[in-house]
Amino acid sequence: MQIVRTIAELRAARRALGELAFVPTMGNLHAGHVSLVRLARSHAKHVAASIFVNRLQFAPSEDFDSYPRTFEADCAKLRAEGVELLFAPDERVLYPQPQAYIVEPPPIASELEGAFRPRFFHGVATVVLKLFNCVQPEFAVFGKKDYQQLMIVRNMVAQLDLPLAVVPGDTVREADGLAMSSRNTYLSAAERAEAPRLHAELRAISDAVRGGRADYEALGEQALGRLREAGWKPDYVSVRRRADLAAAGAGDAELVVLAAAKIGATRLIDNLEIAPPA
Ligand code: PAF
Repeated sequence: MQIVRTIAELRAARRALGELAFVPTMGNLHAGHVSLVRLARSHAKHVAASIFVNRLQFAPSEDFDSYPRTFEADCAKLRAEGVELLFAPDERVLYPQPQAYIVEPPPIASELEGAFRPRFFHGVATVVLKLFNCVQPEFAVFGKKDYQQLMIVRNMVAQLDLPLAVVPGDTVREADGLAMSSRNTYLSAAERAEAPRLHAELRAISDAVRGGRADYEALGEQALGRLREAGWKPDYVSVRRRADLAAAGAGDAELVVLAAAKIGATRLIDNLEIAPPA
């Protein structure tokens, strides 16, 4: 695996490869990332990844400084998956001067995650566009775990006519249902034991909708209440339309339920696509 640190090195290395599938990451790779790399491999002969903890998507109060950085272990995982090219730029490479040109995402970016992490998607969309410009992949793989991110990146690619296809990757879960996330490492043993409750709440809502309930707001409110009772600080539990993440209404068929909640100091997000009633 060739590790490149500058855009010039990246461009030279990329030119030597043909059709390329790209997996952007912030490192601290786990089985979820590995599954994205494998998905990338099924779309193109060559696979590239990036590791870059993007300051632009962290609020000053968030965990940019403490975000787990595990570069050597990450490289070993990527090498084991046969990734040919890793772009791992320093901040000064991607942001040699303060980034003044910022992607303005559509209003949906201010709901759900955006309501609790203002300007998060401005930071994500901006770095993803820069990474696409640098790597110039034919395919880019994004996990459904970050469902709203996936939707916003997809729409950006479509509306800005970027010459690549966005490939969604399924969420990988622990045996007890907890979605894999780099931030799971922050959980204490007691919090880790409690953490699968978030997924369980999503399943309960999915089951209720499949059973015929369409009072989506009430379902969300009830889940929020149960999470609070169990000691969580939930931000949202919301049933949305898959295509645009607008609030779900009567007659919408393709639904997803999304949630974010804090357990202790750790904020977890998760979602579940609601299968149509059998
Ligand atoms: O999902 C992530 O890890 C990040 O948001 C991404 C897409 C690598 C952009 O920094």
